[in-house]
Amino acid sequence: MSVSSAGRDADALSLAKIASYEDPNKTSSQHSRESRWKRIVQKFSLNKDPAAKLPKSYVPLTERNLTEFFNPDYNDEHDAFHKTEAVEGALPIDANSPQKPPYGLYAEKLSGTAFTAPRHENQQTWLYRILPASAHSAFSPRESRTYNTNPESKPHEKFFQIPNQLRWDPFDMDESVDWVHSLHLVAGAGDPATKSGIGIFIFAAGRDMDPHSAFYSADGDFLIVPQHGVLDIQTELGKLLVRPNEICVIPRGVRYRVTLPEGPVRGYILELYQGHFTLPELGPIGSNGLANARDFQAPVAYFDEDNDGSNTYTLLSKFAGHLFEAKQDHTPFDVVAWHGLYYPYKYDLGRFNTIGSVSFDHPDPSIYTVLTAPSHGSAGTAVADFVIFPPRWLVAEDTFRPPWFHRNTMSEFMGLIGGQYDAKEGGGFQPAGASLHNVMSAHGPDAATHEKASNAELKPAKVGEGSMAFMFESHLMVGVTEWGLKKCAKVQEAYNEESWVPLKPRFRRPEKGGEVKNGTDGAATEGGIGDKKQVPHWTD
Ligand SMILES: [Fe+2]
Repeated sequence: MSVSSAGRDADALSLAKIASYEDPNKTSSQHSRESRWKRIVQKFSLNKDPAAKLPKSYVPLTERNLTEFFNPDYNDEHDAFHKTEAVEGALPIDANSPQKPPYGLYAEKLSGTAFTAPRHENQQTWLYRILPASAHSAFSPRESRTYNTNPESKPHEKFFQIPNQLRWDPFDMDESVDWVHSLHLVAGAGDPATKSGIGIFIFAAGRDMDPHSAFYSADGDFLIVPQHGVLDIQTELGKLLVRPNEICVIPRGVRYRVTLPEGPVRGYILELYQGHFTLPELGPIGSNGLANARDFQAPVAYFDEDNDGSNTYTLLSKFAGHLFEAKQDHTPFDVVAWHGLYYPYKYDLGRFNTIGSVSFDHPDPSIYTVLTAPSHGSAGTAVADFVIFPPRWLVAEDTFRPPWFHRNTMSEFMGLIGGQYDAKEGGGFQPAGASLHNVMSAHGPDAATHEKASNAELKPAKVGEGSMAFMFESHLMVGVTEWGLKKCAKVQEAYNEESWVPLKPRFRRPEKGGEVKNGTDGAATEGGIGDKKQVPHWTD
């Protein structure tokens, strides 16, 4: 067996290694990005000190990721057509499926949408690989006690739809399992078999996937939110290193293997059974803001070469919530080149351009939407929004600055990557924990937060420093699994009692008169808007 590689190794992220990294197989576009990176290194004299960081003022991203801002081993930009080759000349020049692709490679199409989807939604990618993805044995079921994406029956049959506000203590680490067996379905709606709905997972793993294995979900796109530890993800289309305060999206069907270079990992996943994530419309915000397309990073082509039959690989498939496996005698990671619009990507939440009120009132949290999966049934309504609450300035005058009390036709599942969420002072919402406020389940600031915010001096204030909370918001009524309600043993039974029951009435009748007239006093004449003496208007 021999292994060749073109791209990034997990340990190649130090500044010194990136700055000096040379690969004879890099394409011209990769060289261009590397040249740009080297200019930055030179501009800030970073090559003199491998531990140096770019000035914080240069770009507001997560500090530990500064060395990757111009990393040549990623393609930048969301929804962009990417083309990448690990060996120069591996991408056919004049056709997608030539009679003889370069270097004896097989051409293979990976379709993320129907062929005939509208052009602005169409996502297809052409792969040029050593052996086609179909070269494996038949699948056989492989359920296990540690595989919890669908332990009993079809997901939609075992969700418990309940109106209770729910909050979970931090979910446990589990160092005994790998990525595949770390997936715990905690909540969701719909059914992957009909490509409708979402699944919400907690993952906690401590072991690398087997070196001769790969996993994919036929059920949907994984939006992965690490809370603890580092995920080194080798996908068919290249490598992604994803850390807390970064997210990644692995599209439906893309095969990958997860290793844990810094030990145990834990986090959250939103699986989208229908459609794909995209950037939200910006409306009056204009052409820039929130998550900028340029800050998303897709991998460049990277391949292993192991096809002499000396190793047996296990291909694991999540299919309608069940786990299946097949065998093959060659590596699944043999894509030498690819081009298209359907690929995995990652994003540093520290790059989010946060926008808020500069006058009064607390805006809807939709202003913090990173990615959205629009419902096609109703404009502006999402199957799932991924929303974050990053560090930000609050300057609104005469305003109750935390989120208001509310009931929402959308369901809200929240998690906390780190720090303390500024809307919860009670201490019950912890990193690695979660909350669910379902359709029309009333919620808002807890009593302590309300008291504090009602009396706070309204000077400009930075909130959320060192913190990153997020929300999976969906127009679907989310059900909770038995694992989420019982088996995980993390539900806080006293959530309501601790949060909102302590709220006291604040209403006081006016001292003079002592009678509330609700604007019905005075002469019954037709008035204007805002005139408390008005009677109902009507038109001829
Ligand atoms: Fe809410």
